[in-house]
Amino acid sequence: QEDVFKKIVSHCKEYGYVFPSSDIYDGLGAVYDYGQMGVELKNNIKKYWWDSMVLLHENIVGIDSAIFMHPTIWKASGHVDAFNDPLIDNKDSKKRYRADVLIEDQLAKYDEKINKEVEKARKRFGESFDEAQFRATNGRVLENQNKRDALHERFAKALNDGNLEELRQIILDEEIVCPISGTRNWTEVRQFNLMFSTEMGSTSDGAMKVYLRPETAQGIFVNYLNVQKTGRMKIPFGIAQIGKAFRNEIVARQFIFRMREFEQMEMQFFVRPGEELTWFQSWKEQRLKWHKALGLGDTKYRYHDHDKLAHYANAATDIEFEMPFGFKEVEGIHSRTDFDLSQHEKYCGKNIKYFDPELNESYTPYVVETSIGVDRMFLSIVCSSYCEEKLENGETRVVLRLPAALAPVKLAVMPLVKKDGLPEKAREIINQLKFQFNCQYDEKDSIGKRYRRQDAIGTPYCVTVDHQTLEDNCVTIRHRDSMEQERVSISELSNIIADKVSI
Ligand code: GAP
Repeated sequence: QEDVFKKIVSHCKEYGYVFPSSDIYDGLGAVYDYGQMGVELKNNIKKYWWDSMVLLHENIVGIDSAIFMHPTIWKASGHVDAFNDPLIDNKDSKKRYRADVLIEDQLAKYDEKINKEVEKARKRFGESFDEAQFRATNGRVLENQNKRDALHERFAKALNDGNLEELRQIILDEEIVCPISGTRNWTEVRQFNLMFSTEMGSTSDGAMKVYLRPETAQGIFVNYLNVQKTGRMKIPFGIAQIGKAFRNEIVARQFIFRMREFEQMEMQFFVRPGEELTWFQSWKEQRLKWHKALGLGDTKYRYHDHDKLAHYANAATDIEFEMPFGFKEVEGIHSRTDFDLSQHEKYCGKNIKYFDPELNESYTPYVVETSIGVDRMFLSIVCSSYCEEKLENGETRVVLRLPAALAPVKLAVMPLVKKDGLPEKAREIINQLKFQFNCQYDEKDSIGKRYRRQDAIGTPYCVTVDHQTLEDNCVTIRHRDSMEQERVSISELSNIIADKVSI
């Protein structure tokens, strides 16, 4: 599986899907650029989401808020204080600790043990005590010193590598217990807060520290009343947004799965207090259906309900997808209560309650959010579409079986030869269809090679123009997945393709 994943990563680069950022400077950690194919796939994913949210729901509208926001927003949302260190929870006491602090305490315990031995010996030997020699020769001191040194080295490396799993492993190996429950029943170590900051304004006036948003959600919360009033929205209603988010992740790996600059598609659904859990259930089901409609395989999805909830949530689940490296979170659905809006009300000092005309009362709405990473969805689609097939002639073909609706190029048009008016005829077909579909013209190399190239980028249809075409206005259409070919009239192409590329 690891090997397959490596192949997928290099396939993405070779065919213009994803490049490491700043590639000619050897890349930038956990930052990636989307190439000519990648941007098309990404746009199609975003459109698939946007249409299903905003176009298909009368009571959901979209916005596009700025990446920079008033810094107090991140104070109110809890991101400044709670989005910070590598944290680990004890499952029994439900207490949260900084993983690095637990390990530092453990180092201090070794020091204590060593010092105890030294003090004991000092008392025993009195004036004649040679501390340096004692430390260098006493068995118990040496044993603790070695353990301490080894732990220190391992700890420093884990911090340096930003390896959270290793931090947890150290905590387990050292048999560190929770001071409250006395047990070693730990969750994984998670790194919160990873906000990037920069300065806004001139430095002579005293610049203001601003953050690059770590989620798009807050842009929706602080605009909800503007949208509600100007759009005359009535609860329940939703606000959707697609945009960049930034997190200075310390564990950055698995390609575009965990990035420092990524994109989210979030929808905040505002409901009456007390109705949030019904809506949570409803969105949980709707979102899974939406994923499954793509046809990547129903067994590749599962829910992961959270037992441990964030401070703002009263229910939370992830939709996980089976990546080559296991089931991983692609989307989160959270019942966020009135936490965010109440916090903003407190921090901004203004009344941001909703007036419910049916109940004739004002209240702070509860919020159910659906939050999906564009890049993770991209990765799930590419991973499950990548396929190496043995052909009858012994050759292997690599094909991206992308859902046709999302494929960057829907149709490649190929003149059999570069002469006799065939290129002109091919371009004529493209000119007819290019307003409807993304078409590509391809005349280089043999037809076989051209088919392979289109298979590798995931183009669902190839159309070949031959000499016969000039007489009967028919072309050979080849289907990517079955490799079947049929002869159809040029006038039918639009319908054949439209039929397949809609969801
Ligand atoms: N507003 C809620 C929120 O941001 P989250 O679980 O932190 O919740 C939601 O993020 C989604 O954003 C995740 O399910 C994932 O798809 C995506 N995401 C989060 N961090 C990411 C990262 N570093 N790289 C790529 N995608 C990320």
